[in-house]
Amino acid sequence: MVFDKNMIENKDIIKKLSQQYENFYLYDEHEILKRINILKSTFSGIGFLYSVKCNPNPHVIKCIFSQGFGADAASLGEVLIAGEAGLPKEQIYYSAPGKTIEDIKTAISKSVIIADSIDEIKRIDAISKDMDCITEIGIRIHPDFSFYGHEIHPSKFGIDAKQAVDFIKANQCSNIKITGIHIHLRSQELNTKVLGNYYQNVFDFAERFQKTCGIELKYLNMGSGIGIPYSPDDISLDLDYLGSLVEKKLSEFSEKYPDARVFIETGRFVAGKSGVYVTRILDRKVSQGKTYLIAQNTLNGFVRPSLEMMVKHYVHDAGIDSYEPFFTGFDSFQIYPLKDEDPYETVTIVGNLCTGTDVIAENIMMPHLECGDVLVISNAGAYAAVLSPMQFASQKKPLELFLKVDGKIEI
Ligand SMILES: Cc1ncc(COP(=O)(O)O)c(C=O)c1O
Repeated sequence: MVFDKNMIENKDIIKKLSQQYENFYLYDEHEILKRINILKSTFSGIGFLYSVKCNPNPHVIKCIFSQGFGADAASLGEVLIAGEAGLPKEQIYYSAPGKTIEDIKTAISKSVIIADSIDEIKRIDAISKDMDCITEIGIRIHPDFSFYGHEIHPSKFGIDAKQAVDFIKANQCSNIKITGIHIHLRSQELNTKVLGNYYQNVFDFAERFQKTCGIELKYLNMGSGIGIPYSPDDISLDLDYLGSLVEKKLSEFSEKYPDARVFIETGRFVAGKSGVYVTRILDRKVSQGKTYLIAQNTLNGFVRPSLEMMVKHYVHDAGIDSYEPFFTGFDSFQIYPLKDEDPYETVTIVGNLCTGTDVIAENIMMPHLECGDVLVISNAGAYAAVLSPMQFASQKKPLELFLKVDGKIEI
């Protein structure tokens, strides 16, 4: 690995902050806004929902919601977070498998509920009957096409398309009205053609669905899929191609269904590149000729680099499929020392937990680092702090800092 000190954005700010704080996430508002503007100019006419699960940091969501994004809430907790951040009910879409009765009762007045099964539709209908109201809901569909054009596999998510159509045609529930559909099959796709085909299939499905069921949708949520490069070998999506494809399909769709809004959900595209995790070296030692650097709160502070090493431990260098959001691929997280002087040496970077699995890099080249030197880890804006087992070993949790466009830091 070769270090390019220019790869670290906000280097001076991080240096300053690292004198004040031990280990922390830093989210950059400027980067978030930049990514939002890219999405808006790429997919004109499309509405966006932020997938709160990827990073529910209050400053991050406030920034994203202020740009007109609604919420893709995956739990009642996220419905409440989005509501407290100021979003009205109509902009909070609550889609998750296995909602409890209490979840539904609380969420019914605070969000647009997307039912995940036929039984759940019936439960929402019964609750609405008790409340003497008619509830507009969406349904998550497990569609009759697959993401990669292969055979269709069973899924724990959503309702099989045919079951949904049969159910709607039989019109069994009088206290709910189905006004939207949600489809999501995959995250972190970097193949432009595949993602483009997916969008086309979703539009075509929505048209078939409306014709067959005899209903007009108020919204079509096309889910996520938009990937970001993690490893230096990853190639970004061709957003110009995707944008013009979606624009064409959207204009055909909107001609037939002018009242239906179309959404794309996204978490990592907006937040993923905005964050870094900053940790420091606590110790160094040589054992049997191997140099170890012991860094603070790695596995328990930002788990994904350690998970990547765990996968490597099992499969060595064999290429394997990603398993989001735990494993994206090898070399997904770049580790930059703030110091970059010669001489370089080969080191293994481990964390300060009492487990041998707390490894974030094995035999990599680093400048000579000592106790107190700082490391910056990339791609820590999404599925990072939220996924990390910070309770483990009762260590201090890393802070989450937010760098505003005006240069101020919020905690
Ligand atoms: C239903 C749904 N929507 C959106 C997302 C967000 O995906 P991403 O953060 O890759 O945009 C996910 C992620 O798992 C998801 O399950």
